[in-house]
Amino acid sequence: MPHRELDLLLEDLTRLAALPLERGETLPARAYTSEDFYRLERDRVFRADWLCAGHVNQVAEPGDYLRTDVLGEPVVITRDEDGSLHALSRVCRHRFMDVLPPETTPEQGSLKRLTCPYHTWTYRLNGEYAGQLAGAPLMNKVDFDRAACRLPGYRLEVWNGLIMICADADAPALGPQLDELTAKLACYRLPDLVVAYSAVWQGVAANWKVALENGSENYHHMGSHAATLDPVLPGRDTVVDDCDGRWFTMYTPFAADGLQAADGAAGTASALIPGLGERELSGMTIAGVFPHLVLALLPDSVTFARWIPTGPETHDAHFTVLVPPEARTKPGFDAYVDASRQQLETIQSEDTVAIRGVQRGLATNPGPSGGRFSHLERPLWQFQRYLADRLVHRSRLP
Ligand code: FES
Ligand SMILES: [Fe+2]
Repeated sequence: MPHRELDLLLEDLTRLAALPLERGETLPARAYTSEDFYRLERDRVFRADWLCAGHVNQVAEPGDYLRTDVLGEPVVITRDEDGSLHALSRVCRHRFMDVLPPETTPEQGSLKRLTCPYHTWTYRLNGEYAGQLAGAPLMNKVDFDRAACRLPGYRLEVWNGLIMICADADAPALGPQLDELTAKLACYRLPDLVVAYSAVWQGVAANWKVALENGSENYHHMGSHAATLDPVLPGRDTVVDDCDGRWFTMYTPFAADGLQAADGAAGTASALIPGLGERELSGMTIAGVFPHLVLALLPDSVTFARWIPTGPETHDAHFTVLVPPEARTKPGFDAYVDASRQQLETIQSEDTVAIRGVQRGLATNPGPSGGRFSHLERPLWQFQRYLADRLVHRSRLP
């Protein structure tokens, strides 16, 4: 019976993905609650496509590591002594302990070797040997092939300073799919920016797509953020670009009087990203890369958000705020970070009201259907095409 339901959901997705934006409709409600649909997304999207694990500044020096669970399994990003990055499984090859358990180790740091804290097996982190077993105490009385013991690795690409990883050996390379977007964002110099701070909301009670869709339109500024974002970045002034494929962009100019208020709030502690043009200095660009990455690019900072499913009706939301390196040496930088963090918390709490409220609506029985899109929700319409491509069309290929 559930399989029949999944077939119907995929049929519906195929129908929706063929509609023009002018007649575009929301996804069927069960796509946000069904366990079977979630499993399919996990296998054909999250375990088959490129996901963002962080920014290169988080593993800047040889020996640096960054823990990430973005693939839905334990992974660590490491930088070797030659400067190359690796994505390795954190599952020890002995009895499968997490070699960097969050209970006892920080999310990022520096290491010469990886040592599993359970029985102290160690793994190398250098160059072509990354992940190779270096030592396993008291294993000499049994028949054990040390040379064959190695932590599995994942594919890794750096795109625009962001660390992208992929669990599928056959997925096409990411960089060439984003060439045009890379050129569009070049002036923000993402690879040179540094992390000001990160914030995580764990276990948000909504399907990951509800959060992604919320982050992919500024239409809701006039509702959810009426008193906060909208006076500075009015949603109604947003221009959504005619994009295709797996990425989108949109631009919202600052409201003339709102900007002065924002300037006053930011004070003198922020530093502008050097070399931005008039357009970038006069508004916010939003850029998205399906399945789960959205960037908000402002004159003094770039925030990237990632939504990671943890079940059909829960996800973790990760936000990382990047600033130009000069900002860190400005007097008052700590106060700037505090104010920015507080602002992010306010915006996220406003978004969470909508995200959880939508999930409650989707979970009603019978599920609602046929919600209509405004022209400002073009990225949501585009996302349906991406999803249909991954969940339906590719599975028909031999
Ligand atoms: S599980 Fe890692 S050393 Fe035993
Ligand atoms: Fe929002």
